[in-house]
Amino acid sequence: MVAVAILAAGRGTRMKSTLPKVLHQIGGRSLIERAILGSLETSPNRVLVIVGYQAEQVKTALLDPNRSLVSNSLPKLEFVEQTEQLGTGHAIQQVLPHLEGFQGDLLVLNGDVPLLRPQTLQRLIQTHKQHQHAATILTAQLSDPQGYGRVFCNGQNIVQQIIEDRDCSAAQKQNRRVNAGVYCFRWQDLANVLPELQANNDQKEYYLTDAVNLLQPAMAVDIEDEQEILGVNDREQLATAYEILQRRIKSYWMSAGVTLIDPASVTIDDTVKIQPDVVIEPQTHLRGQTAIASGCRIGPGSLIENSQIGENVTAMYSVVSNSIVGAETQIGPYAHLRGQVEVGAACRIGNFVELKNTKLGAETKAAHLSYLGDATIGEKVNIGCGTITANYDGVKKHPTKIGDRSKTGADSVLVAPIAIGQDVNIAAGSTITEDVPDDCLVIARSRQVVKPGWRLKSKE
Ligand code: UD1
Ligand code: CA
Repeated sequence: MVAVAILAAGRGTRMKSTLPKVLHQIGGRSLIERAILGSLETSPNRVLVIVGYQAEQVKTALLDPNRSLVSNSLPKLEFVEQTEQLGTGHAIQQVLPHLEGFQGDLLVLNGDVPLLRPQTLQRLIQTHKQHQHAATILTAQLSDPQGYGRVFCNGQNIVQQIIEDRDCSAAQKQNRRVNAGVYCFRWQDLANVLPELQANNDQKEYYLTDAVNLLQPAMAVDIEDEQEILGVNDREQLATAYEILQRRIKSYWMSAGVTLIDPASVTIDDTVKIQPDVVIEPQTHLRGQTAIASGCRIGPGSLIENSQIGENVTAMYSVVSNSIVGAETQIGPYAHLRGQVEVGAACRIGNFVELKNTKLGAETKAAHLSYLGDATIGEKVNIGCGTITANYDGVKKHPTKIGDRSKTGADSVLVAPIAIGQDVNIAAGSTITEDVPDDCLVIARSRQVVKPGWRLKSKE
């Protein structure tokens, strides 16, 4: 039996933010979301999240049904309130009534340590089970241990003492072995010593590390990749964590058959999915729930977020948000799919075309300078250069429909609500205000007038 407790009640003063620290994001997921996701891989029987500072906000974020995190995962998250933040030990004291009688191990994670690999947690639990110690803690040997609690062990990796950085003497600070903030406790043993914690330290807080000091024996396990234990306390560490995560994500996709032409200039959220033989050009950013099918060439200079991109699509210098793009379609340069857009297969969306809440059938082209909003457009339609849907009357948005194979002339304005039939040709420069039936030519502009010999009075 394993229960997980995640410490997430602190404010994170050093972030200088109104947002609770654990809700800051790296690569599409909040710090706490990452900590929880990592811990779920150990198949815990219970998951307790200790919340305090802006508890409601943290809870709401974690229970958001749009986030993949908790909706399907078992077991259900249990929230434990720490109303006053008196330290990490005090935080775990709040768990006592919730785990009364629990016979198993408690895995404790800091909510601000987002890069732990699931294998690392598994290894920690395994070592703990194997040696049957009261506690097993994760440690690392850091070249720059500043800010972390220092772990003092005997030759057999049995912990003698953990001392917080600020409580260390100059000599103790020389110890480069640090506490990662990841612990596996035999719960009954921990429960026995928790009430004994004292706040006799520089911060006047109850430290969880003191519980480790009270438990005999406690063992330290060094991590192989020290980057995993980075704790995020300020914006600089947030950026460092992001950098490490990006390197991981990119090397994962490259090993899965994706070409990144200039990896350093590309960012990819780890919620993104990419098929093999996709080429990501420089200065391209893939975010949120995005999926890119094989054969695509994305970029240079594109942002794709929460979108599904079909096979062999190209998207150059363009922004695609919350949209679906069919196979073989060409996007850009300089196109903007603003949201709720569905583009069919083999379409072309060209320079300075903006689409919003619009559906395009297969093989339809909008090659230059258009705004299409709230429109349903058929197959093989040609949207002439400069075609605009006038979808907004100042109060409400209205729909536009265009049937298959129709062509809108250059610079036509379609005043919605409006329906254009199939096989329609709209003359250039027309302002269409009434529905148009199938199979016709429609011209809606004033006839050109030529006045021979006419001059401005002043020029006479
Ligand atoms: C802690 C450890 C330190 C370790 C480091 C690793 C202690 C005393 N120190 O220090 O040894 O090297 O993590 O990153 O544990 N929290 C609460 N309630 C509180 C206080 C904190 O839930 O009353 C939560 C915070 O939200 C945070 C986590 O506990 O997620 C760690 O707190 P933080 O103040 O960042 O501890 P560190 O000083 O980093
Ligand atoms: Ca911390």
